Amino acid sequence: IPVDNFDLVIFGGTGDLARRKILPGLFRRFLAGQMPAESRVIAAARSDFDDAGYRAEIEAAIQEFGGPESKDKKGLEAFLGQLHYVAVDATGDGGWDQLKSLMRDGVVKAFYFSVGPSLFGALAERLHKHKIADRSSRLVVEKPFGRDLETAKELNATLAEHFAEDQIYRIDHYLGKETVQNLMAVRFANVLFEPLWNSHYIDHIQITVAETVGVGGRGGYYDKSGAMRDMVQNHLMQLLCLIAMEAPNQFEADAVRDEKLKVIRALQPVDYHHIVRGQYDATESSPSYREDVENPRTHTESFVAMKCHIANWRWAGVPFYLRTGKRLKARGSEINVVFKDLGHSIFEGDEARHRNVLTIRLQPNEGIDLQVTIKEPGPGGMRLIDVPLDMTFAQALGDEAEDVTDAYERLIMDVIRGNQTLFMRGDEVEAAWSWTDPIIEGWTARGDVPKHYDTGSAGPEDSLMLMHRDGRRWREIK
Ligand code: BG6
Repeated sequence: IPVDNFDLVIFGGTGDLARRKILPGLFRRFLAGQMPAESRVIAAARSDFDDAGYRAEIEAAIQEFGGPESKDKKGLEAFLGQLHYVAVDATGDGGWDQLKSLMRDGVVKAFYFSVGPSLFGALAERLHKHKIADRSSRLVVEKPFGRDLETAKELNATLAEHFAEDQIYRIDHYLGKETVQNLMAVRFANVLFEPLWNSHYIDHIQITVAETVGVGGRGGYYDKSGAMRDMVQNHLMQLLCLIAMEAPNQFEADAVRDEKLKVIRALQPVDYHHIVRGQYDATESSPSYREDVENPRTHTESFVAMKCHIANWRWAGVPFYLRTGKRLKARGSEINVVFKDLGHSIFEGDEARHRNVLTIRLQPNEGIDLQVTIKEPGPGGMRLIDVPLDMTFAQALGDEAEDVTDAYERLIMDVIRGNQTLFMRGDEVEAAWSWTDPIIEGWTARGDVPKHYDTGSAGPEDSLMLMHRDGRRWREIK
C-alpha cells in the first residue's frame, strides 16, 4: 500500500548512514510500490553537488549496498529521478531559500537529521526561521541521543523549542527489525504464553547481541562511547522492555511507550559485581580494540555482560542477563526465555534437566523457536530429548519471508504514515540514561579496567562465570 505523497529532506544526505541504509532502503520501498512517484527526497549537506552529481553518488551507493534489487536498472533510474540535492549551511543562511523552493504544500514533510547532535539546534531553528517546517512536519533523529542523562535532556529541550513530541521520531533501528515486532505479536496475539510469562514459570531471560565486526572506521566515536552507551542503553534495553512490559491496552504509540517506560523505571540499580566489561585482543590477522581506536591505554569496553532485575510483581526474582560485544565468535542476536524445571520427573532415569526455552532470533535466520522435550524416536525406551518447534520465517513463510523489510526502510515508512509506535519517546530515552549513568560513573569512580578477550571467542571468561555462579549458562553463540 503506497504511503501518502511526501517530501523527505535528509540532512547529512551524503553521509554514511544515508548511503548505506536510508537511500537503499527508500529504493526498495520505491520498487515495492510504496513510495509514490511524485514524492521527493531532498538531500541537504555541505558539499557542492548538483542533482546529477548527487544522483550519480547515490547510484553507486545503491549498487554497493542495495542488494539484488539494485540490478533493476530501470527502477533505479526512475528512483534517482526523485532525488534532489541542495547545499545548505547548517549554521548560516546559505541554501535555505533554495530548500524551501523545493518543498511543496499539501504533502507530508519530514526532516531526517542524519548529522551529529551538535547541529540539531541550528537545523531546527533554521527550518522554522525560513518557514520550511510547520506544526505538521515530522522530524527524525538518530542515536546516539546524548551520551548521558544531562546531554539527552539538553537535546530534548532543544528539539522541544521547535517541535512537539508527537512530531519527533527518535530512531532505534532494533525496533524496526522484523522479529522484534514479531515478539509483540507472539506475546500479545497468542493465548499460550501470557499465563506462563512471569516469575512462577520463567527461570531467567537472556538477551545476546553478538557481532563479529570490530569498531571498524568508527573508532573515534566508539572509544568515547563503549558498548554500554552504544548498544545497551538503547538496543538491548528496548529488547528488554518488549520482553518484560505489560500488555498495552491497544497497539498504539503512547500506550506501548507508557508500558516500556514503566519497565525502565522498575529496573533496579545493578550491583557492580554483576557486570563484566571486556576489550578484544588482536589475532595474527586482526588488530586489537586498542589498535582499532588508536588509543593504547583506553579502558573503553567493546563487550558488556550483566545481570539485572526488574522490581515488579511479574518479574520478582527473575534475572535478566544481557550481553553484547564486538569481535565475538559469531554474529547472532537472540532473546532466550528459559522456563523453570519441572518440579518432578515421572520418567525413570531422567537425570537431564529438560527445560522449555523460547528463542526469538533477530539475526541471522530470523525466527522463533520453542524448545520442547519429547521421546527420542525409536525402540530405545522412554528416552527424552529436547527438540525445537521451529518457526524460521524463511521456512515457514517461503517467498513471503524474502520480503522481510530492512529495519530502516520500515521505520522511514512509519514516519511518513505518522506512526510513532516503534520510536522512542523523550522520557524513555531519559529514563534509560538514568539507569545506565550510575553504572558508567561507577566504573570511572572505581578505575575499572575491562577484561581482555580473544577475538573470535564468546567474550571474557568472567562473563561465563556470571552465569555459572548462578548455576546457569549462556546459550551458545552460533
Ligand atoms: C549500531 C551501533 O547502533 O548498531 C553499532 O552503533 C552496531 O556499533 C550496530 O554495530 C548493530 O546493528 P545491527 O543491525 O547490525 O545488529
